[in-house]
Amino acid sequence: MDLSNFYLCSILVALCFQARMACNSNDRAALIGFSNCLTSIIEAWNSSTADCCTWDGVTCDNSTVLSKRVIGLELGNKRLTGTICQSLAVLDHLGFLNLSHNFLHGTLPTKLFTLQNLEVLDLSNNDFTGSILTGGDLPSIRFVDLSNNYFVGSLNSTLCETLPRIQVLNLASNSFTGEVSNTFGRCTSLLHLSLKGNSLSGRFPESLLHLQDLRVLHLEDNQFSGPLDAGLGNLSNLVELDISSNSFSGILPDVFGKLGKLAEFSAHTNKFTGHMPVSLVNSPSLETLNLDNNTLNGSININCSAMIHLVSLYLGSNNFHGPIPETFSSCHSLSILDLSGDKLGGEVPSNFKNLQALTSLSLSNTNITNISAALGILQKCKNLTFLALDRNFQNEQMPSDVNLQFKNLRVLLMQNCQLRGSIPLWLRRCKMLQLLVLSWNLLGETVPSWLGNFNSLFYLDLSNNLFTGEIPISLTGLQTLTNRNNLIDGNATGIPLYKKTGGSGGSLQYKKIGSLPPTMDLSYNKLIGPIWPSFGNLKSIHVLKLKKNELSGPIPSDLSGMSSLEILDLSHNKLTGEIPSSLVKLSFLSKFSVAYNQIYGEIPTGGQFLTFPCSSFEGNNGLYGGDGAFTSCQLAHLPLSPPATAATQPPTEKMTILGVQFGIGAAIGFVLTVIFCFMSGWVIAKPKEERRNYHQKLRQKV
Ligand SMILES: *[C@@H]1O[C@H](CO)[C@@H](O)[C@H](O)[C@H]1NC(C)=O
Ligand SMILES: *[C@@H]1O[C@H](CO)[C@@H](O)[C@H](O)[C@H]1NC(C)=O
Ligand SMILES: *[C@@H]1O[C@H](CO)[C@@H](O)[C@H](O)[C@H]1NC(C)=O
Ligand SMILES: *[C@@H]1O[C@H](CO)[C@@H](O)[C@H](O)[C@H]1NC(C)=O
Ligand SMILES: *[C@@H]1O[C@H](CO)[C@@H](O)[C@H](O)[C@H]1NC(C)=O
Ligand SMILES: *[C@@H]1O[C@H](CO)[C@@H](O)[C@H](O)[C@H]1NC(C)=O
Ligand SMILES: *[C@@H]1O[C@H](CO)[C@@H](O)[C@H](O)[C@H]1NC(C)=O
Ligand SMILES: *[C@@H]1O[C@H](CO)[C@@H](O)[C@H](O)[C@H]1NC(C)=O
Ligand SMILES: *[C@@H]1O[C@H](CO)[C@@H](O)[C@H](O)[C@H]1NC(C)=O
Ligand SMILES: *[C@@H]1O[C@H](CO)[C@@H](O)[C@H](O)[C@H]1NC(C)=O
Ligand SMILES: *[C@@H]1O[C@H](CO)[C@@H](O)[C@H](O)[C@H]1NC(C)=O
Ligand SMILES: *[C@@H]1O[C@H](CO)[C@@H](O)[C@H](O)[C@H]1NC(C)=O
Repeated sequence: MDLSNFYLCSILVALCFQARMACNSNDRAALIGFSNCLTSIIEAWNSSTADCCTWDGVTCDNSTVLSKRVIGLELGNKRLTGTICQSLAVLDHLGFLNLSHNFLHGTLPTKLFTLQNLEVLDLSNNDFTGSILTGGDLPSIRFVDLSNNYFVGSLNSTLCETLPRIQVLNLASNSFTGEVSNTFGRCTSLLHLSLKGNSLSGRFPESLLHLQDLRVLHLEDNQFSGPLDAGLGNLSNLVELDISSNSFSGILPDVFGKLGKLAEFSAHTNKFTGHMPVSLVNSPSLETLNLDNNTLNGSININCSAMIHLVSLYLGSNNFHGPIPETFSSCHSLSILDLSGDKLGGEVPSNFKNLQALTSLSLSNTNITNISAALGILQKCKNLTFLALDRNFQNEQMPSDVNLQFKNLRVLLMQNCQLRGSIPLWLRRCKMLQLLVLSWNLLGETVPSWLGNFNSLFYLDLSNNLFTGEIPISLTGLQTLTNRNNLIDGNATGIPLYKKTGGSGGSLQYKKIGSLPPTMDLSYNKLIGPIWPSFGNLKSIHVLKLKKNELSGPIPSDLSGMSSLEILDLSHNKLTGEIPSSLVKLSFLSKFSVAYNQIYGEIPTGGQFLTFPCSSFEGNNGLYGGDGAFTSCQLAHLPLSPPATAATQPPTEKMTILGVQFGIGAAIGFVLTVIFCFMSGWVIAKPKEERRNYHQKLRQKV
């Protein structure tokens, strides 16, 4: 063969080979342009390698022989920072774009909304701003997720013209405002629409009633108002409908017979009135029904023979009146039942014992009576793990029947019942208890030492009772509180708890029991004897309150072992000696009081001690600040205020754990939760996730 021909041929083959391997050069340039707009580096993108199809997250097609086209870009959760620039829109074969869970900011390039082949666009969980989709054209798009960003503006007429084939549209947790445009009805392929967590207003968007294929509709956490009308029955394919936390009003339309696939309906925290419609209480498809926190009235006429799939039922904080219907017993799948705050009265019906699937029950503040009967019946619900009975049974006797047994109980709330008697022996067999609240009763005698044997107990509140004798030393050996690694089961029980915050009247919502701060509150009793040095073993306790007892002796220096402690209240006792300087080691301590004791000597300097107010130390004998600290404090002994007893205080004033909220803005609570978690070192997430958590909590209120 002629040598020059051979060379020519070789070069051609090499060129062809090269070309077949490489990605389209425009696409490559576009990707480089894209990465240049980022302020972070994409790991494993090596711009000196020619074939961009090998770069991390890049997918090419196989169709073209000469150059491969980029059809997918998946860079979710890669810690990308910076902005997206126009060059990305040069990737005109792009079908799949996922840049979610990054730190990208700025506005979206308008050309992004002209990609003719784009089918999937996921830009969720970034910091994007600006408005979306003005004059765009995405003829192939099926899936758009822009949730958890800072997009603004209205959802107006151009949207469905831009997205004619859209099936999934998620615009949740942004800052969209105004009414939902009438033209939304043109997005007729929509199956899944979420607009939750914005500031949308106006009536229920009528245009949505034309979306007959819609399966999932989330409108919660907006400012929609006005009544729902019968047109809702048009959405006969709905499986999930959430309109909670808006200002909808009027009666619920009787259209649930037409919504034959509806499995979840949530309308809590609105202003609905009147009775539950017949079709709703007879729905055979519903699994979850949440109508909490409205002003519905009438009796609770759930037809369990019809509602055969009902698993979770929330009817609390309405004006339903009693008695609790006997017919509940045939709701065989019922697992979560919340009737708290309704005006029920009467006793727990005896056939509640048939609710064998029941795991969580709240009858808080329902004016029911006969605690002996209630516990006797409910113990037969073998799967019960969460039981809230607080603010009922006023002035009854704590049942002492030793045969009562709640094998699976993890949470027991029986505070504010003015119960007489003592801590009953049957409780000893509730071995799974994690949270026990018996505060604001009239329980007396000694605190039994077997409470220290509960291996999972991390929240114990016996405050505001009449307990006498010493603090059982066994409480300083509670396994969950002594072992840092003993994590509490964080699973949600299905019924949130509320915890009052100090002073301001706010309350925190806790969906998971495990998020409550590990606590021991024995304050406002008549306990005597010493504070055991072994309290120092409680390495994971966050709150210890022994206020207003008659405890004596010194403050043990070993208390510095409670290394997670945030609140320590030893005030109003008869403690003597000095404040041990070891306590400056408690680096999370944010509230501390030894006021009104007989303590003397120098207040330790350093650590958190510099941050405590004068009131933490007042009413003692000769406490003084070292290094000229606390000089402006009047630390002399002041007359003791008379000891308070449970009987002389208004019951709602100091209550901390609640089975039902008082109607206080939950949003305040979430802000505080975050601050609290931050202080306590629970949240060590990167700042972005911190913010994200906060937003999610704020928005997914219940
Ligand atoms: C990028 O690719 C070139 C050529 O293949 C190679 O020499 C270089 O080491 C690569 N750089 C990195 C950071 O992988
Ligand atoms: C391209 O072809 C390769 C090998 O046949 C295959 O593994 C890959 O999935 C194909 N890519 C696309 C996008 O079709
Ligand atoms: C996008 O990527 C994220 C993170 O990798 C992933 O969780 C998400 O499911 C992806 N989105 C789509 C639509 O596949
Ligand atoms: C649609 O929304 C965009 C962005 O919010 C706004 O600029 C535009 O004026 C709106 N168009 C109409 C017709 O409301
Ligand atoms: C229900 O759907 C039909 C068919 O799309 C439509 O004609 C009718 O207007 C819808 N009803 C309401 C109240 O939107
Ligand atoms: C129930 O609510 C309806 C609608 O608000 C009202 O007209 C009716 O008087 C209420 N009934 C009772 C018993 O409160
Ligand atoms: C309850 O549901 C059953 C079964 O669907 C039905 O036969 C019965 O009439 C209903 N009862 C009432 C009061 O609606
Ligand atoms: C009770 O709980 C157990 C264990 O979780 C479960 O297997 C069982 O099905 C439950 N009983 C009922 C009636 O749901
Ligand atoms: C609670 O029930 C008693 C009767 O058991 C009744 O006299 C009282 O009015 C009820 N209280 C409320 C607030 O409904
Ligand atoms: C409470 O219920 C029990 C058992 O049903 C009954 O024997 C008792 O009389 C009831 N007590 C009151 C005060 O009604
Ligand atoms: C908590 O939830 C997880 C995941 O759903 C489950 O595997 C685990 O068994 C649950 N724990 C308890 C104690 O129910
Ligand atoms: C109940 O509704 C009121 C306003 O209607 C609201 O302020 C409060 O936060 C709601 N409670 C819960 C638990 O959502």
